[in-house]
Amino acid sequence: MDALSRPLTDRTLFALAEGYAWLPNRMRESGGRVVRTRLMGRPTVALRGPDAVRFFYDERHVRRTGALPEPVVGTLFGHGAVHTLDGEAHRARKELFLPLLHGDRVAGLAEEVARAWDEAVPEWGGRPEVVLFDEVSVVLTRGVCRWAGVPLGEGDGDGAEALARDLVAMIDGFATLGPRHWRARRARGRQEDRLARLVEDVRSGGVAAPEDSVLGRVCRHRDASGEPLDARTAAVELLNVIRPTVAVSWFLSFTAHALHRWPEIRERLRTGDAAYATAFTHEVRRFYPFAPFLGGHAVTDLTWEGERIPAGALVLLDVYGQNHDEKLWGDPYAFRPQRFLERPAESDELIPQGGGDPRAGHRCPGENLTIGLLETLAVRLARLTYAVPEQDLSIPLGRIPTRPRSGFVVTDIADVT
Ligand code: HEM
Repeated sequence: MDALSRPLTDRTLFALAEGYAWLPNRMRESGGRVVRTRLMGRPTVALRGPDAVRFFYDERHVRRTGALPEPVVGTLFGHGAVHTLDGEAHRARKELFLPLLHGDRVAGLAEEVARAWDEAVPEWGGRPEVVLFDEVSVVLTRGVCRWAGVPLGEGDGDGAEALARDLVAMIDGFATLGPRHWRARRARGRQEDRLARLVEDVRSGGVAAPEDSVLGRVCRHRDASGEPLDARTAAVELLNVIRPTVAVSWFLSFTAHALHRWPEIRERLRTGDAAYATAFTHEVRRFYPFAPFLGGHAVTDLTWEGERIPAGALVLLDVYGQNHDEKLWGDPYAFRPQRFLERPAESDELIPQGGGDPRAGHRCPGENLTIGLLETLAVRLARLTYAVPEQDLSIPLGRIPTRPRSGFVVTDIADVT
């Protein structure tokens, strides 16, 4: 009997409990780059390494439709989202995102976010303490909504805080079935309702959306069928631009953690050395945990490095494990931005936002945007002076998604630029 057909005990609960360490631990035990297990009742094979990335992103091997668990779709991505499509339907939908997230657009968003940051910092200076994660999520929400042409909505002040809370909740609750999960579902329901009404208002002419804005483009986009997106799906995809932009808050809290632990890096970032800032953002995205792994279904019976993968098995790409693979990085647990100046990463080695070609496959179309935003904000953070009071800065690997437990509290903020 094939190892995959044997009734292996389901490991879903172990995976949830061990979090980021689950697959890397199993890989270490197996002594290779393949793990066989069972998740959500299915035989499962996990892979890692640049060749595995190419294998995983080949649509003849692995497809996504129906592979993502409902609790993830119902919180993080939204039903009908681009993440859940394959083939022609996926390519047509991806066409919506790619032109919105490249070149001048990246600079435009970085400018809006920098403006929101510069407006917020003087106000932080007047407070006894600031939780950086929370404040940065509000800055990113303001910046991305101005850039995308999306109103902030109801709530205290300009509505940015309430919207930021909802966007953070959608990300925070996808990998648990506890209270964080139900908060995420409520947040998504609220924002999908609001944005679906906005899409209808734009289409009926009641609300103006600049032709070239993200809002305007989403309202006009036509799918592979030639039909416009229904209002709910349009709302889902609007959220798929705004929500992951606000996810950069996680990377900024990791940036603050890195600057605190390795103060010499702060000095170098502060100079505004552009190549170093890029290397630093790569190292933050490699070193700190965000996406644990990606998954899809085997389209047909497959063989990977001599191992049989039956049709329908769950295939996982070990993202966190690959970003910490000694064979690729030498000293994976050292935080060393310099490594990217010494040797630029080869294609499909660094995969915090997926691998392969973003135009052809599911790789994150917002990677350049993430890098641009993180460079802008990391240099600004390095140029602030602040004190870091006693707090819990541990980053629990059993929690997905994780971050410094305290959210990174700072006091006595002043801008020294
Ligand atoms: C897909 C990570 C920022 C839009 C993905 C994927 C990952 C990821 C791991 C899945 C790749 C796959 O399934 O193969 C991240 C991280 C971010 C980030 C860690 C920063 C914190 C962004 C931004 C945007 C964005 C800023 C847009 C403004 C998307 C979209 C997809 C995606 C639309 C779906 C692509 C597809 O299925 O074809 N991202 N992302 N992401 N990301 Fe990002």
